[in-house]
Amino acid sequence: MGQPTTVAVTGAEGFIGSHLVHTLVASGHRVRAMVQYNSFSSYGWLELLPPPVLDHVEVVLGDVRDAASVNDLVAGAETVYHLAALIAIPYSYRAPHSYVETNVTGTLNVLEAVRRREIPRLVHTSTSETYGTARTVPISEDHPIHAQSPYAASKAGADRLAESYHASFGTPVVTLRPFNTYGPRQSMRAVIPTVIGQLAAGERTVTLGDLRPTRDFTYVADTAAAFVAVGTAPHESVAGRTFNAGTGGEISVGDLVALIGKVMDTEVEVREDPDRVRPAASEVMRLVCDASHLRVTTGWAPAHSLEEGLAATAEFFRDPANLARYKTTLYNV
Ligand SMILES: NC(=O)c1ccc[n+]([C@@H]2O[C@H](COP(=O)([O-])OP(=O)(O)OC[C@H]3O[C@@H](n4cnc5c(N)ncnc54)[C@H](O)[C@@H]3O)[C@@H](O)[C@H]2O)c1
Repeated sequence: MGQPTTVAVTGAEGFIGSHLVHTLVASGHRVRAMVQYNSFSSYGWLELLPPPVLDHVEVVLGDVRDAASVNDLVAGAETVYHLAALIAIPYSYRAPHSYVETNVTGTLNVLEAVRRREIPRLVHTSTSETYGTARTVPISEDHPIHAQSPYAASKAGADRLAESYHASFGTPVVTLRPFNTYGPRQSMRAVIPTVIGQLAAGERTVTLGDLRPTRDFTYVADTAAAFVAVGTAPHESVAGRTFNAGTGGEISVGDLVALIGKVMDTEVEVREDPDRVRPAASEVMRLVCDASHLRVTTGWAPAHSLEEGLAATAEFFRDPANLARYKTTLYNV
């Protein structure tokens, strides 16, 4: 094997980021991992990675809103994976300005750093939320963009900047657009950990918002593999392009809760909490992925069924040490 290459990851301490760091190290890379500066010296979910993995990780405290810290992060990297973002939709109703600063200006800083330092590949992270409620299914990359929340708008803005840097400067950026991702270490702002976390804590009645929306859920190891697939594919096949990542399956929140009950062998009742229901025009009612572009270009395919992924997620939340990291009785925005 040749010399390991150094790759840089923003949002490395987050849910998907921490899995991506693990996957990158397992495939022979050294990782320079940006962890958002905090006064607790917390490395977030990276702290749960095994020490032999962390031996190949250099943690750099920083902030994507700060151009200087991004510029240092990317120096000498073969590939930059940009995942840092504010991601909660309900919090984006309350603090939209911070979403623009982190998701739009933060992405601009990453694009500028990659451009100036002539980094050979940037993987920018979009989201299926930018499509809004599906007009046609499954959703291909040609589906119109319709931002129904400040979060989605900030991600769509970041995507446009990425596109423009490729068009204007030839910046070698590829955009990955994951559909809903779930798995161990996800925060309880998302529906699957909300349900599994409450059940693992011994609740039999789970509190949720609207049960009707449908989603296409991808297990986090498969999403991490999609990042690596676009990060390592030949330049000509991915540069300047956008790739959806999702399974093509569709399930409503209501049916998902029943399936989780089955996987965890637990009776579940649902209490609908009006505080968790989003404004009607802001709720994305239907998302189903067409990932054929990614599959044909890179050979990526999801390796986990929903049942398998839910079982692995339940196992994580049933470990009392993991559960203790969550506030299962709160509505986590
Ligand atoms: N989870 C999903 O279902 C999903 C689906 C589609 C796209 N995405 C995208 O994937 C990426 C990762 O999401 P996640 O689910 O792991 O969320 P997450 O909240 O766990 O991770 C985001 C990370 O970004 C970091 N961050 C926030 N502000 C920062 C700043 N100013 N400077 C540096 N770091 C900062 C946070 O500390 C966090 O670790 C995001 O870009 C998100 O939009 C997520």
